[in-house]
Amino acid sequence: VSLEPIIWKGEYLSLIDQRILPNEEIYRGITSLEEGHAAIKDMIVRGAPCIGFTAIFTLALAVKNSKEFSLEIFKKDCEYLNTARPTAVNLGFEISKCFDYVSGLLKENQSQVDIYNKLVELGQKELELSHERNLAMANLAMEELKTKSSGPYKVITHCNTGYLACGSLGTALGVISHLHSNKLIDHVYADETRPYMQGSRLTSYELYKENIPHEIIVDGASSLVMKQNKIDAVYVGADRIAANGDTANKIGTSNLAIVAKHFNVPFYVVAPLSSFDNKIETGKDIEIELRPQEEITKYKEHQIAHKDVSAFNPSFDVTDNELITGIIFEFGLLKPPFTQSIKEAYEKSNN
Ligand code: MRU
Repeated sequence: VSLEPIIWKGEYLSLIDQRILPNEEIYRGITSLEEGHAAIKDMIVRGAPCIGFTAIFTLALAVKNSKEFSLEIFKKDCEYLNTARPTAVNLGFEISKCFDYVSGLLKENQSQVDIYNKLVELGQKELELSHERNLAMANLAMEELKTKSSGPYKVITHCNTGYLACGSLGTALGVISHLHSNKLIDHVYADETRPYMQGSRLTSYELYKENIPHEIIVDGASSLVMKQNKIDAVYVGADRIAANGDTANKIGTSNLAIVAKHFNVPFYVVAPLSSFDNKIETGKDIEIELRPQEEITKYKEHQIAHKDVSAFNPSFDVTDNELITGIIFEFGLLKPPFTQSIKEAYEKSNN
């Protein structure tokens, strides 16, 4: 593993501070509900799966620290943690899993210490399972790409969906890393991913550590890159996939999908079942996080726009389902019409 973003240290959670990567690799200790909430909100930890895993360990710490532990108090803790960031479904998904688990354990009269230990075990198990799931998705994506041409391939990706986002192989970046292990990568173009620079700071760092040939491009360069090169595929992750396949992901993903459609480049979303939200019918109902305008008008402390101008900073966008060639999840490749294929995927996974 090149970079481990989440490490359970026995008594507390250790998170690599993703705000200062790649210049410094510094871990921050998380010992309470409040610190876990702040770590997600301030993006010490980010990426939908890692946000979800952090939530499980944070709730374990909340149980441990609770003076008068009860289901009502735990419910309040869950509700509070769920306010940390709105768009990634993984946060709410893992929180409600923990809530159901804890209410079951309380019915069995399990002690506070046992519940704490069980939540820690759950967090560790989910992290381990995520590697298997990501590898399954990477294999499926590779087989699909091989049906189109024999490679080695040129691909584009957006944001960061690797170890740093998933605590394991990664989703879209996991596919790229797997293709590279199979000697099938010619070149990767990594969108820098304005304004938070997950692409240039994090994805490129992961690719560099794995010796994968790549270049960073500005988000607006994808059209030129697709025009000048034969790009074989675009791979992106997801923060929430609606029942009709509309997909929320990092701002700029939808632009990339529109460009890919124009140049006839296959556009794949790679995301585990935990990123699907069948309670939401279409992308219109997905809440989009708005982040501080200073992320655009400043770079760190340095002012890069006039101090009196304002900026609009939505952190995610929704890619319309008709722009998506396929959604790869751990049990298969979903093809349009997505309303149908996603429904069948749920049915299969429940059996
Ligand atoms: O704001 P971030 O960095 O948490 O956004 C991350 C993304 O948009 C990722 O593409 C998504 O969470 C998928 S991670 C496998």
